[in-house]
Amino acid sequence: MIVAIDGPAASGKGTIARRLAKHFGLPHLDTGLLYRATARVLIDEGTRLDDVESAVAAARGLALTDFDEEKLRGREMGEAASVVGAMPDVRAALIDMQRRFTQHPAGAVLDGRDIGTVIAPQADVKIFVTASPETRAQRRALELRGRGEPVIYADILADIRKRDERDAQRSSAPLKAAADATILDTTDLDIEAAFKAALAIVEKKRG
Ligand code: CDP
Repeated sequence: MIVAIDGPAASGKGTIARRLAKHFGLPHLDTGLLYRATARVLIDEGTRLDDVESAVAAARGLALTDFDEEKLRGREMGEAASVVGAMPDVRAALIDMQRRFTQHPAGAVLDGRDIGTVIAPQADVKIFVTASPETRAQRRALELRGRGEPVIYADILADIRKRDERDAQRSSAPLKAAADATILDTTDLDIEAAFKAALAIVEKKRG
């Protein structure tokens, strides 16, 4: 079974994807890490983020095993990931790796922006997770503070709005729900309730 979870920043898609993967014993790939890791290579090298050639080389050089999540989860990396994620050649360089991941014999759970639309249009279940920008900003501010990054709510809300806009407007694989995705709005749901709602969607699809 292939499960595609897409949605905007801090919608809860990552947590839902992890929980579903654990529940069904499937491998999970957080595809945002690929874009974050690509951006990280450029930052570590001191290369400009808008250098497409270097970004493509960085994307091609990634291995799924070398993600240091601690270094990739910060505020700056989310923003930088969205810049390289808007480059069609970077997206193209990351497609095979993601498609290979879906070929695990048991299936897989992937979360990102374009899993149901581009990476795995054949997915058995597609969920588009969303929540209001204010709720997402609150969650992200809490998460970043939990990681020791002192942030101001208004700044995070501005980040989220800017990133929503960039992700939705880009020409290559813009953020949008697949026509056959089920929308899950988590604005008023805590983690447990969101997971249960997602599980119900999967169970219903599987009949
Ligand atoms: O939860 P959050 O959106 O902050 O982080 P993420 O899922 O790691 O995504 C970071 C950025 O990577 C997004 O804003 C997208 O621009 C980009 N991304 C993408 O373009 N396609 C994906 N499949 C996953 C992430």
